[in-house]
Parts: sequence; C-alpha cells; structure tokens
Amino acid sequence: MTILNRQWIYQQAPVDLVGPEHYRYEEQPLDTALGRDELLIAARYISVDPYMRIGQSGKPTYDPHPHPVGIVQQAGVVAQVLASNAAGFQPGDWVRTYSGWQTHAVLHASAVNRIDPQLAPVSTALGVLGMPGRTAWFGLTEAGKPRAGEVVVVSGAAGAVGSLVVQFAKKHGARVLAIAGGAEKCRWLQEQLGADWVLDYRAYHDHAALAAQIRQLTGGVDVYFDNVGGMVTDAVVGEIKRRARIVICGQISQYNGHLDAPTLGPRFLHHVLYQRATIQGILARDYLHRMDEMLAIVGPWVQRGEIVFEQHVLHGFEQLPQALNALFTGEHRGKLLVEV
Ligand SMILES: NC(=O)c1ccc[n+]([C@@H]2O[C@H](COP(=O)([O-])OP(=O)(O)OC[C@H]3O[C@@H](n4cnc5c(N)ncnc54)[C@H](OP(=O)(O)O)[C@@H]3O)[C@@H](O)[C@H]2O)c1
Repeated sequence: MTILNRQWIYQQAPVDLVGPEHYRYEEQPLDTALGRDELLIAARYISVDPYMRIGQSGKPTYDPHPHPVGIVQQAGVVAQVLASNAAGFQPGDWVRTYSGWQTHAVLHASAVNRIDPQLAPVSTALGVLGMPGRTAWFGLTEAGKPRAGEVVVVSGAAGAVGSLVVQFAKKHGARVLAIAGGAEKCRWLQEQLGADWVLDYRAYHDHAALAAQIRQLTGGVDVYFDNVGGMVTDAVVGEIKRRARIVICGQISQYNGHLDAPTLGPRFLHHVLYQRATIQGILARDYLHRMDEMLAIVGPWVQRGEIVFEQHVLHGFEQLPQALNALFTGEHRGKLLVEV
C-alpha cells in the first residue's frame, strides 16, 4: 500500500530571509510495507529552529558541510506511530524523531525516542523537554556555572532557549537580567518568568547606551548567556565582572545575510583579558547522551507547573518555510512550532 507523503525540499541556499525559491513543495507516494523493526509514522508537530539557517551557510559550521540541497529539510518532529513492525511499539504511540519537514516516514525503531504523553503535552518534546531544554540546561549549568546571588544576563530571553535559561538561572538563585525585543516580551519575562530586570534592546540604537543601562541595573555581569550576538553582545561584554563566564549559544543577529560575511562590531576582547573571563561555545548535540539527566531534573518542574513553557504553534504543513522567517521577526514567545 502507498500513502501520499507531503514534503518540503530544500533546494537553494538563501542569502537573507527565506523565499519561495529556496524550498519546493512535493507530494510523493510512500510505500508503507514495513521491514523488520520498522515503523510508519505521521508527523504531528514539526520544529522550526535557527540552526536550520546555520546549516544553509556556505562555510563549514559545526557540520563540515551545509545541509544538502534536493532533500527534505532536516528537523525535529513529534509523531504518532501509524503501523509497527517493531517490538514494543503500537499504533498511536507518540515518538520524537528527526524525520524533517515531511508528513510521513518509514523509520527504523532505533531512529525514534518514545514520548510519555502523561508527563506533559507531547509538543514539549521539541521544546522544554527536548533540544531547546537540553541546550538551556547544559549551556547554563556546564558553561555558565551560575551561583546564588550572581548576575546572569540572557539575550534572546523570550525565545525557546532563552526563556528557559531565565527560569533555570532563577532556580539557581541568580539575579537575572533578561534582554528581548519589545515591551510586551519584557513584561512577560518579568511578570511571568521572574526576571529581576528586563531590557528591550530595540529601544537602544548603540551599544554604549545599552551598556550604560546594563551597568546601572546590575552593577556588573557574572554570566552572560548569549543567543543573539551583534550589538547586544557588544554592550554586555563590556560589563562583565572578574571571572565572568560568557556562554555563546547562538548569534541569531548574524544568520540572515551575515553567516558568510559577518558584520564587525566594536572590539571587546580586551575586557575578557582584564576580567580573566571565559568564553565557551556550547552545542546541544554534545549533551544528547545526557538527555535523561536533564529530563530527570526539568521534567518534575514542568509537571509541578514550576516552569513556564510557552509554545507558539502555527497551523498547517504549508506554513513551514515561512515559519523559519518568523524566528527572525521575533513575533513568537517560547518555542515556535508547526502543527501538521
Ligand atoms: N548551541 C546550540 O546547540 C543551540 C541550540 C538551540 C538554539 N541555539 C541558538 O539559540 C538562539 C535561540 O534559539 P531558539 O530556538 O530559542 O530561538 P528563539 O529565541 O525562540 O527565536 C529567535 C529569537 O531571536 C530574536 N532575534 C531574531 N533576530 C534578532 C536580532 N537581529 N537581534 C536580536 N535578537 C534577534 C527574536 O527575539 P526578539 O523579539 O527578542 O528579538 C526571536 O524571537 C539562536 O541563536 C540559536 O541558533 C543554539
């Protein structure tokens, strides 16, 4: 038997925002005959993440080669099993996998992780209980090493990773400055997520003015968890304290148009010298084998309602390429997802 599989094929690297020429929509018949240990799955939630734009860079990144053209856009997916030829899996089971921007797939059972729908909404397997949660937890605790009373500054603070870093830092007893775009996000960060201070970076036109405000609010920065780079980072790094830890998680301000030709900002590395600070890049995949460790700590917080995990869900498979652009316009709070 065959079913119709809807796919978004990555076909051309964008320079700036994604347009209709960069992805091609296809409908392909999928043979549903299952080999040993195979599953037929149907995607229910498909992830949209900034790393997809990094993978479209012409230069080597954390992968030696860019995302290949002519294949389905790779992506994390929450899916349901439609048919199983694998022990332990039944139709209806929920799984997390990496089947990309397509509605169906036949996969070996080793390519999926089971999701417990009793623990939390299944879509959180792409957010707080998935890759963004792992990034926030290990990036903060392993590289940031926050201590009670220290000042933690988080850029991109209202997004999937940043909103969790803010809350995890509060759990460590830190005082948190959350930096995000717009008054409404800042209000949410302070009132719902417990940030001690908030700053709307869009209200500042140069790094010096933003730096002065950071200095006035915090008196100096012990940990900087950086999701955005650019002007915000220029402002924060000048305010680091002795032995500060700078965690480079992302540089989203550079992804559209600047991956292959970075913008140059004010030089700040002399502050790292003066303050004997540490800069460390972190990557979610390095902590994949420690996923259960993160889930054992963060899962109960989620179940007890101690973590706000907002999700911004766009409806319809056809939304996918455009949804990637939404990461850069910043209209969402928390994790951006597409429901199939
Ligand atoms: N190292 C890793 O393993 C890893 C894993 C996951 C994510 N990341 C990185 O972490 C960062 C956040 O990822 P996410 O999935 O949580 O995305 P997200 O924060 O949910 O979405 C991106 C946000 O970035 C902000 N932004 C976009 N363009 C910007 C600009 N020019 N200047 C400042 N802010 C800008 C927008 O918020 P505003 O409205 O506040 O501008 C937007 O909502 C990204 O840089 C991503 O690459 C790294």
